[in-house]
Amino acid sequence: MKTFKINEKIYKYRFGHPLATEIVWDSGEEILKSEIDYFQKVTDEKLRLIFKMEPDDIVWGLGENQKGMNKRGGVYLSYCSDDPNHTPDKKSLYGAHNFILIDGKTKFGVFIDYPGKVVFDIGNGHKEIIEIIVDTLDVDVYMIRGNQPREIIHEFLQLIGEGYAPPKWAFGYQQSRWSYPDQEAIDEVADALIKHDIPCDAIYLDIDYMKDFKDFTINTERFPQFKDFVYAMKEKGFRLVPIIDAGVKIEEGYEVYEEGVEKGHFCLDGEGNPFVAAVWPGKVHFPDFLSPKVRRWFGLKYKEMIEYGIDGFWNDMNEPAIFYTNRGLKAAIEKAKASENKNLDIYSFFSLKDVFVQMSNALEDYQSFYHNLNGKLVNHHTVHNLYGYNMTRAAAEGFSVIDPNKRFLLFSRASCIGAHRYGGVWTGDNHSWWEHLLLNLKMMPSLNMCGFLYVGADTGGFSGDCHAQLMIRWIQLSLFTPLFRNHSAMGTRRQEPYAYDQESTGIIREMIRLRYAIVPYLYAEYMKALMAKDVYFSPLAFTYQDGMSRSVEDQLLVGESIMITPIYQENALGRYVWLPEDMLLWTVDRYQERKLKVMKMGHHYIDVPLNQVPIFIRKSKLLILGTHGRNMDSIDGSEISIIGFIEDHASYIYYEDDGETKAYLKGKYTKIFINVYRKNDDLDIQVRLTGKTKIKKMHFYIVDMEGNMIQRIKILNESK
Ligand code: GLC
Repeated sequence: MKTFKINEKIYKYRFGHPLATEIVWDSGEEILKSEIDYFQKVTDEKLRLIFKMEPDDIVWGLGENQKGMNKRGGVYLSYCSDDPNHTPDKKSLYGAHNFILIDGKTKFGVFIDYPGKVVFDIGNGHKEIIEIIVDTLDVDVYMIRGNQPREIIHEFLQLIGEGYAPPKWAFGYQQSRWSYPDQEAIDEVADALIKHDIPCDAIYLDIDYMKDFKDFTINTERFPQFKDFVYAMKEKGFRLVPIIDAGVKIEEGYEVYEEGVEKGHFCLDGEGNPFVAAVWPGKVHFPDFLSPKVRRWFGLKYKEMIEYGIDGFWNDMNEPAIFYTNRGLKAAIEKAKASENKNLDIYSFFSLKDVFVQMSNALEDYQSFYHNLNGKLVNHHTVHNLYGYNMTRAAAEGFSVIDPNKRFLLFSRASCIGAHRYGGVWTGDNHSWWEHLLLNLKMMPSLNMCGFLYVGADTGGFSGDCHAQLMIRWIQLSLFTPLFRNHSAMGTRRQEPYAYDQESTGIIREMIRLRYAIVPYLYAEYMKALMAKDVYFSPLAFTYQDGMSRSVEDQLLVGESIMITPIYQENALGRYVWLPEDMLLWTVDRYQERKLKVMKMGHHYIDVPLNQVPIFIRKSKLLILGTHGRNMDSIDGSEISIIGFIEDHASYIYYEDDGETKAYLKGKYTKIFINVYRKNDDLDIQVRLTGKTKIKKMHFYIVDMEGNMIQRIKILNESK
């Protein structure tokens, strides 16, 4: 083992000769130190790290994963998996995020920089033991110190580099389904949203827009004039967001396939031929995204779509998902033939059934293909988790050549830490289950801790039928997630906002309007978190030290001013909440109204009728609200409202930028420092700007500890 000091707080322990994952760039300085901190190290053919927890230790992290925000009690396997049936016993989801943070008397973070299998047993095998088993002896392990969880996360985010900023329109509501297969279907959705007066920024194109599921092609029977259609939709107020899949169809005459074969851009099988697997189009090759050359080639393929007027993409099936390979299919058919006319008992029947079920995403297949890393063949299985990351990277690197200063919407299904620099993630194929609504809530802060800020789930659930009540409750969570997309699978009940009864549609309309109204706050918090290397969603324990706050698993802080307490149980018309301090409860059914109530620190049961969402505003903090429009572009942003809860002073730093370009990286943004002081029975409001703003008028609604509301208006004459 070699030890490298990255800085005062971060040490890297290098075992063997790990492959460069390019997740961390800073290689640090070698120092003399032969023992790893915190852990007992056991090495046989794998690296095993063992840590004994104290009873009160919390373990945060692991990004997109099962179980609680506190990971204690679970076994988690980092191995990006296409598993739509993620019941609680499943160990891996679509992402593999190898960062945990131990938060007890001892506090530190651990990042396992290994892209193959890693098992995190967090007090499952033995309730007090964390055991990390890495499938190799060649790995970099980082230990991050700090006094507080947030400080450790900050150091970690600093280590893994600048995160992804989407364009501001990507904070609008987005409508998706597998599939709106043609122009007419999309038009219908757009018209229905307009007719029902439901704000929306984007409509998604799932796999059917392509010709025979071939990447970067358009089915011209369904979209005869694609470019014109993209522009016509923009005129109507909707951006179209197409899907791009990892596998490239094997088909003579298909340019991407032919070029890929000719230039040797695909992953190889054991014989040195392009590896063949089957996904949507039937047989495909997988681009070798781990190679910079291939990334550049694939990344530039997005150009044509961008020239059609497309501003955003979602990258899918990039675990990579495999339906079957020749090997798997052959084994299954042989087994089926051998079973013909046999009297199958329990064992032989299930073994026949299993060979079909296990044909997809089989370990044997992942072990049978290779990446070409600088002339050296590397088995896919050992770098599996880098695949989705490098597909996202290919796209983002392509965008920065095609239109360097523009921010594109980009998110992916598979990912590992590092991918947060290039795009966001959605949490894959969930179900229309209340359990997955709660899981959605729990995954958000965990993903933030691993660098992913642009996150969200398929609102309403992908598989299964979503009824009105579940949709409304899910929207009441998603309206706080940066990615707010309603997506559902083929064959399921329609779940667009207007697909339900009139009353439900009315409630959904008000909730989506609330989302638009709250975007100024959400966007400011997002960009501030991004730039400060901080989280946007956090568990209460990051801010409050009391024992209760350390165990709350179903409330979140969103940015610095608010706490949310979503309803995630069927037919519940209220819930218990823990208030770690006095807070101001804003009960919203229409965001234009101010139903405000001071609530004392402690346990409460609050009523939450279906049409209302509770937002708790923290003491001495301010919440910024704008107005809704039919989409983000239609909102002029000249007036904002500020709701605050004040003892003697409340403050907020508002953030504004162009929302379109990367100019913010060069300091081109405005911060507005808002300070409200209590003075006798009045308020002293001070506003200081660092640059230009669209805001001309500010409406203040400030509530004191006794529940008295003072309203004031401030005109910004100084707006340049
Ligand atoms: C995958 C994606 C899902 C998409 C479907 C069809 O299951 O996760 O979002 O709709 O493929 O492309």
